[in-house]
Amino acid sequence: MVATPMLVKKFPLPLRRFIGDPSNSRLQEAHSEIVRVARATPLGELAASIAHEINQPLGAIVNNGNACLRLLRTKSWSEVREAIAAIVEDANRASGIIARTRAMFNRSAPAKMQLQLQDVVTDALRLAQGDLAENRIIVLTHLGNDLPSVSGDRIQFQEVLLNLMRNAIEAMSQVPDERRVLRLGCQESELNGKPAVLLTVQDRGGGFSPEEAGRVFDAFYTTKPTGMGMGLRSCLSIAEAHGGRLTASLNSDGPGATFRFLLPAVGQHRKRSNHEPN
Ligand SMILES: Nc1ncnc2c1ncn2[C@@H]1O[C@H](COP(=O)(O)OP(=O)(O)O)[C@@H](O)[C@H]1O
Ligand SMILES: [Mg+2]
Repeated sequence: MVATPMLVKKFPLPLRRFIGDPSNSRLQEAHSEIVRVARATPLGELAASIAHEINQPLGAIVNNGNACLRLLRTKSWSEVREAIAAIVEDANRASGIIARTRAMFNRSAPAKMQLQLQDVVTDALRLAQGDLAENRIIVLTHLGNDLPSVSGDRIQFQEVLLNLMRNAIEAMSQVPDERRVLRLGCQESELNGKPAVLLTVQDRGGGFSPEEAGRVFDAFYTTKPTGMGMGLRSCLSIAEAHGGRLTASLNSDGPGATFRFLLPAVGQHRKRSNHEPN
């Protein structure tokens, strides 16, 4: 008996014939239109990459499942065990992708309040303290003390900063200790001709190639063996939901990358005092 792959089995036969029928030009037209519209919207792009990404582990599950069925007939138990372990791993990968995507979409509407970006840096440094120490990262901060406020969700901003810091730490995992320097800066800036606050996260890691630079914000783009490739996509959507911007560039004065998170300024300048609660 030749096992039929699960995915194909799920489609009732008439539907399969319908999808595969090249003479059905109206269907094809409609399909191309859907694809075009889906590609034109960022959400559509995201949906397309999720579909692509989940198809990979599912395809591997089907292949390994079939291999198990074959191996069961020949009783190669160790190989069966290996294939089943691979099935479990791929299934976990697929469910991880779904969980992260869900988390991204379930994020409630930003709970906006006026805040100082420097305070978010302080929050994030406290939260990442262990991670930074464990990786022997030297942190240099340059936080202006008379910056305008921004309006936004503090937790979401922390998420952005923690993601950028984690990426910086990972980028510096292979460099000698003396080069493991993470610079965090806040300064006044401009966005579309209006006052803004700029947060920079700079590392001295390996950076990325010019081709990679265009892809780092794509959903599921990762160069790490166990990476998910959702971190920067998630940060970008937070920046956009706040009318801001997130960009990446290579450092001009040496190795490494700089990420810039730019948010429109609101309200009055405010002097920070050391006694203020975070
Ligand atoms: N600080 C950085 N230096 C160099 N490359 C980076 C940096 N941050 C992100 N990247 C690149 O962008 C990719 C996507 O990052 P991200 O969305 O956070 O996903 P992940 O960290 O899971 O790979 C990384 O895999 C890496 O190739
Ligand atoms: Mg990341």
